[in-house]
Amino acid sequence: MKIADRTFIISGGASGLGLATARDLHAHGAYVSLLDLNCDSGSQIVTELGKRAKFFETDVSNTESIADAIKGTTAWIKETGKTIGGVVTGAGVGLPGLIIDKKNEPVPIASIDFVLNINLRGTLDLIRQALPYMTTVEPAGPDGERGVIIMVASSAAFDGQMGQVAYAASKGAVASLTLPLARDLSRYGIRAVTIAPSVFDSNMTKLMGSKVKQSLANAMEFPKRAGQPEEFARTVKDCIENVMLNGTIIRLDGGMRMPARL
Ligand SMILES: NC(=O)c1ccc[n+]([C@@H]2O[C@H](COP(=O)([O-])OP(=O)(O)OC[C@H]3O[C@@H](n4cnc5c(N)ncnc54)[C@H](O)[C@@H]3O)[C@@H](O)[C@H]2O)c1
Repeated sequence: MKIADRTFIISGGASGLGLATARDLHAHGAYVSLLDLNCDSGSQIVTELGKRAKFFETDVSNTESIADAIKGTTAWIKETGKTIGGVVTGAGVGLPGLIIDKKNEPVPIASIDFVLNINLRGTLDLIRQALPYMTTVEPAGPDGERGVIIMVASSAAFDGQMGQVAYAASKGAVASLTLPLARDLSRYGIRAVTIAPSVFDSNMTKLMGSKVKQSLANAMEFPKRAGQPEEFARTVKDCIENVMLNGTIIRLDGGMRMPARL
């Protein structure tokens, strides 16, 4: 799939891994439609990137909000003539909590719903609503490709730590749905790939204390540092350009395996 002159929808595009992806795809000639809750950052980025970028204030846990963003994106595509090339589902949250705490209180169901609604339901709902547009674009290239869906799981999908039951459940589900999604979409020439990062510098991780950061560094193999958002974006670019990447989960973790606790 070519990047230049195609439109890519990026949820969570106003920060961290989604933002680095938006910048990288934009630098390679893409049109980027950024869906995020964070209006200030979203508008600032669009001002910076210029006319090949659009921001839609979106809550991915709300079906109507996604529908509005898709409607806005497709109207924009009509103006630019740059058909949709893919979706990157970067919006995500973490909310740590032991399944049962020291006071014998189980984790609130609201916490579980919050994480699953954004990380899992929000991922599937965005894909679901973008697909009717992706399936109808003109197939391109020798393989007749129509587009690619790139999802974001986490190391927690495989080695979730204490207090990460809800987050690991959401990311494990995203990893699990990758192959059936690819299978459902193969007849349309649409691929599905998931990237599972370990610890990357972003707003999500910058609040970690120095003790936690040191403990994570001790668990790292090589390199012994957090990944950079640009390194994530580079893998997204490869997922778009390399047609053989399909139905699979790419661990982007420098060989790190998370310990049970920090
Ligand atoms: N940074 C890491 O170490 C790391 C590791 C593994 C997986 N991930 C995953 O990568 C993805 C991106 O995370 P990040 O590190 O860039 O974090 P981040 O906090 O920098 O960015 C996440 C973005 O998602 C947006 N968002 C949150 N809830 C939303 C909602 N309901 N609707 C729309 N947008 C919403 C936020 O406003 C923010 O802009 C997440 O899915 C996260 O779970 C991150």
